[in-house]
Amino acid sequence: MAKITASVYTSHVPAIGAALDLGKLHEPYWAPVFKGYEYSKQWMEDNRPDVIFLVFNDHATAFSLDMIPTFAIGCADSFTPADEGWGPRPVPVVKGHPELAAHIAQSVIQQDFDLTIVNKMDVDHGLTVPLSLMCGQPQAWPCPVIPFAVNVVQYPVPSGRRCFELGKAIRKAVESYDEPLNVQIWGTGGMSHQLQGPRAGLINKEFDNAFLDKLIADPAAAAAIPHIDYVREAGSEGIELVMWLIARGAMADVAGGPAPKVAHRFYHVPASNTAVGHLILENQS
Ligand code: DHB
Ligand code: FE
Repeated sequence: MAKITASVYTSHVPAIGAALDLGKLHEPYWAPVFKGYEYSKQWMEDNRPDVIFLVFNDHATAFSLDMIPTFAIGCADSFTPADEGWGPRPVPVVKGHPELAAHIAQSVIQQDFDLTIVNKMDVDHGLTVPLSLMCGQPQAWPCPVIPFAVNVVQYPVPSGRRCFELGKAIRKAVESYDEPLNVQIWGTGGMSHQLQGPRAGLINKEFDNAFLDKLIADPAAAAAIPHIDYVREAGSEGIELVMWLIARGAMADVAGGPAPKVAHRFYHVPASNTAVGHLILENQS
């Protein structure tokens, strides 16, 4: 059977992608950000998955206001990096895993979560920046990726509680797939940031670090945070953090297994308009 071996959590700040693509890796402003991912890139080499289930949000790139799926699973063979206004990022095309994606869709929909099936989608910085941070600048991404898009852009957005429950359903789905695949689940976006209005530029280190603590040790408590608290404490775009709860809900301890090992934890301010947060949690077998 397939198995979720680890979860990865990371911000997806678009300026990080631009810094990497424009060769600004070693500039004083960016060097501390990339330093926080050196461990992670080695960890990816040492813990290469067969598939990454990548929870992310589209930023009105693939989905416009014409259609806003709350949860959408990418079932295509491949996903092209999107043109977000400056041309597509010079990164590899993302290969999908249609068979596992279709199985997860079947299982999760039968567990009463309404997923939108997506057979064609370009992927924006929400997906490509986490891949760049974790994998560097390879000719091809190390494995197939199943993109799972969550609406955190246009209200109403799903609650953290629902995202956490969805993670549990995804775990059951993966673990009922009849092939011994090593699957990682990534929760991306966040941490505190607000890009608009009078509070633009808001960053809340206390909230972010308390969230990281809770996510590690008491994820059910993190899942109980109401959406208005994210908006108040972490800024309007801090709501992206609910996506981390999907990945956390898919970890073994939530289903009665042992607590995960914290392989890596990193937090840095600033990167563009936001705080960068990052965690790697390994399931203990
Ligand atoms: C920015 C955009 C994002 O989507 C995000 O999650 C963080 C920062 C930005 O424009 O700086
Ligand atoms: Fe974002």
